[in-house]
Amino acid sequence: MASFLCYLMSIRLLFLLPLFHVIATDCFASMHPLCHDDDSSALLQFKESFVMSKNACIHPSGYPKIASWKLEGMDRDCCSWDGVECDDDTGHVIGLDVSNGCLYGSMVSNSSLFRLVQLQRLNLAYNNFSFSQIPSGFSQLSRLTYLNLSNSSFSGQIPSKFSELSKLSYLDLSYNYMLHLGNLKGLVQNLTSLQDLYLNYVQISSPVPENLIKFILFDNIGFNWLRITWRIPCWNF
Ligand SMILES: *[C@@H]1O[C@H](CO)[C@@H](O)[C@H](O)[C@H]1NC(C)=O
Ligand SMILES: *[C@@H]1O[C@H](CO)[C@@H](O)[C@H](O)[C@H]1NC(C)=O
Ligand SMILES: *[C@@H]1O[C@H](CO)[C@@H](O)[C@H](O)[C@H]1NC(C)=O
Ligand SMILES: *[C@@H]1O[C@H](CO)[C@@H](O)[C@H](O)[C@H]1NC(C)=O
Ligand SMILES: *[C@@H]1O[C@H](CO)[C@@H](O)[C@H](O)[C@H]1NC(C)=O
Repeated sequence: MASFLCYLMSIRLLFLLPLFHVIATDCFASMHPLCHDDDSSALLQFKESFVMSKNACIHPSGYPKIASWKLEGMDRDCCSWDGVECDDDTGHVIGLDVSNGCLYGSMVSNSSLFRLVQLQRLNLAYNNFSFSQIPSGFSQLSRLTYLNLSNSSFSGQIPSKFSELSKLSYLDLSYNYMLHLGNLKGLVQNLTSLQDLYLNYVQISSPVPENLIKFILFDNIGFNWLRITWRIPCWNF
């Protein structure tokens, strides 16, 4: 009789176990929402558009950060991927730091990165975008407060659409030796939250607005090369 009861109990337990599992995953999910499918597919497409190899690392401490991104087993939550930060409430990707990540390849104008419209902080510094232009698609990331493209082999003009990133507090474009800025005033006059702007070793062929000169440290490196670092304590035009 006792063994029969025992048998019944274990049957019940077998039925209860999956239920417990469902409850446990539910609880976990409500504590920390899983990454959205749209976000993880945008990240994976971004990953696939680059070559990653130790040769592409431009700094000895770099490693191919995004190599571990994959949609498998325990790793399927993109919020746990290296360099990815999600909002605790919405689960959307709000931060991406793949700096010094051994990325090599062109940044295309339709990059899937520009679908991560909830991004607030983006760091792509110290990669090699092989002298591609900075796509104006960055302007779709209208919530950005921090954008770092330092030392990442971009070339061409800084897109005028950058002036639409009106929430930017930090913009670092320094050490892109082939990058041109033709209209400094046009770039910054709409960026009313800007605190720090780094343009060291960017080629600037633009008059510097009078009211900005006092915030700028000039250091002529050569013809048409200006090294500029500034801190803007209080922005007023
Ligand atoms: C930028 O990267 C190059 C490697 O391409 C490195 O030699 C240089 O020191 C870096 N510049 C800065 C300011 O870190
Ligand atoms: C970007 O456009 C090219 C050609 O138009 C296409 O092959 C590629 O799949 C597109 N990439 C994305 C991420 O949409
Ligand atoms: C941009 O990223 C580089 C590399 O991680 C870092 O050295 C630099 O301080 C960053 N710039 C800002 C403004 O945070
Ligand atoms: C970046 O890639 C280009 C080729 O596209 C190469 O000429 C350049 O040396 C690379 N830069 C670094 C810092 O490795
Ligand atoms: C200034 O920023 C706003 C967003 O705050 C944007 O709608 C507008 O197009 C920007 N103006 C320019 C000249 O970029």
